[in-house]
This record gives sequence, structure tokens and C-alpha cells, in this order.
Amino acid sequence: MNVATSLARAAGAGAILRLGDLHKQFLLEGETVHALRGVSFAIQPGEFVAIMGPSGSGKSTLLNILGCLDRPTSGDYYLGGENVAALDDDTLSEIRCRRIGFVFQSYNLIPQLTVLENIEVPLFYQGISPLEARQRSRQLAEMVGLSDRLRHRPYQLSGGQQQRVAIARSLANNPLMILADEPTGNLDSATEGEILQVLIDLNRRGITIIMVTHEDRIAHIARRVIRLRDGGVVSDSPESEAVNSSLENLI
Ligand SMILES: Nc1ncnc2c1ncn2[C@@H]1O[C@H](COP(=O)(O)OP(=O)(O)O)[C@@H](O)[C@H]1O
Ligand SMILES: [Mg+2]
Repeated sequence: MNVATSLARAAGAGAILRLGDLHKQFLLEGETVHALRGVSFAIQPGEFVAIMGPSGSGKSTLLNILGCLDRPTSGDYYLGGENVAALDDDTLSEIRCRRIGFVFQSYNLIPQLTVLENIEVPLFYQGISPLEARQRSRQLAEMVGLSDRLRHRPYQLSGGQQQRVAIARSLANNPLMILADEPTGNLDSATEGEILQVLIDLNRRGITIIMVTHEDRIAHIARRVIRLRDGGVVSDSPESEAVNSSLENLI
């Protein structure tokens, strides 16, 4: 990265999201827990970022705030140019549905629905015609390598295939970014490699991915690793292009 790009990045210019001195405190049985203590960073379109840190370091709290599932106690969170830190619940959930794709460790698919129907779920709330929704879900299924499983239901799929459906569903609304919380946590190592490859391919198509993981070998596929400890960022380093995206090193 050249100096101009680094400076622009530090200033948050052109960023998809920017956090400024973000704090989150929880009150637990009269005690204040400082889950995040002044987190600041910006993420540019097209980045693939891993968020790492030991248990209790604030990863989930941070991801919940990034995903508009929770609010910071103080600080700024600019998402697509808008400060969402202080928005009310309804506006926050609207932003969540329209602008953010989620991928969880557990796939959270609807068991009664087929692959195509599961991918279409987020589109139902958008007033898109059934025909258009079907076209879009076919394209997305194809993108994640599920063209031959369109009418299967979740129980007829492997874990890796179910996670592919979840990834396709996360893209249905053309989100600004995908937030993935330990997306391979339930998978064996071969399938883990497959799913990481899907994420790498999507990122190559320009999709911004922020992924929480506690495993170094998984974080290595990201181009940038943000490490948390005790609610603060202890390092934020772009990985070298050489390390990035080589799955052969991983498995
Ligand atoms: N809802 C909550 N109420 C009280 N404390 C919480 C809550 N959520 C998280 N914490 C505390 O905040 C800290 C960070 O938690 P978390 O974000 O879940 O960490 P990680 O995901 O890195 O394991 C921990 O000390 C945790 O106990
Ligand atoms: Mg967690």
C-alpha cells in the first residue's frame, strides 16, 4: 500500500464504515463491564478483514455494533456516511436488513424451505416481484456453487452446503458488507477450506467481508487483521499479498 492510500485510510476517506472512539459498557449486577474501550478504525470498500482476539476481548460486542444489532455507549459509527450510533431501533433494523449481510456459525436456515426459497427470504421484505426474486436467488445459488441443489431442503444438505446457502442469502439484498461470525466454526477442516474459498472468491468480486475468528490460520486469508485485547485494538495490520488468499498454506 502506498503512503497516500494509507493516509486516506487512516482518515476514513471513502470508507464503508468508520468507528471513532467507540465505547461499550454493560451493567452486570451493579458492576460496569467495559467491553469496548475506545475502538477506532475505518474499513474501505472491497476489504477482507479478520477480527481476532482471545475470548472476552470484545469481538462479538464489536460485531453486534457493526451489524446494527446493538448500539455503542459512546463514540461514532458511520456506516455508508451516516452516523448510525444514535439511531432508534426501527431505523437501525431497517439499515440492518437493507445494508448488512450476516453469516453465522450456525447457518440459521429455515428447515421447511428449499435452497432457492431460503436465499429469497430477505427479498420478501423489499417488494421485489417473485419472478425477479427467483432470478436473483438462482444467480446467487450459482455464485456459491449450488446450482444442482436448488430444490433441496437444509436437512438434505451437508454443513458446508448449508453454509453456502447462508452466504448466498446474506448477499440477496446487495449489502454494503458481509459480517461473518466464526463462519467455519461448525465445519471439518476440508469443508472449512471450501467455505473460506467461497468467501475469497466473493471478496475478489469486490464484496467487503468482515470476519470474526479466533484461529490464526483462518485469519491469514484476510488481507487485514485487527486484533483486540481487553476491548481495545492492539494491532491492525494489512497482511502481505503473498500471505493472502493462498489456501494451500491453510490446509
Ligand atoms: N450483555 C452483556 N452483559 C454483560 N457483559 C457482557 C455482555 N456481553 C458481553 N459482555 C462482556 O463484555 C466482554 C466482551 O465480551 P464479548 O464481546 O462477547 O467477547 P468475545 O466475543 O471476544 O469473546 C466480556 O467481558 C463479556 O463478559
Ligand atoms: Mg464472541
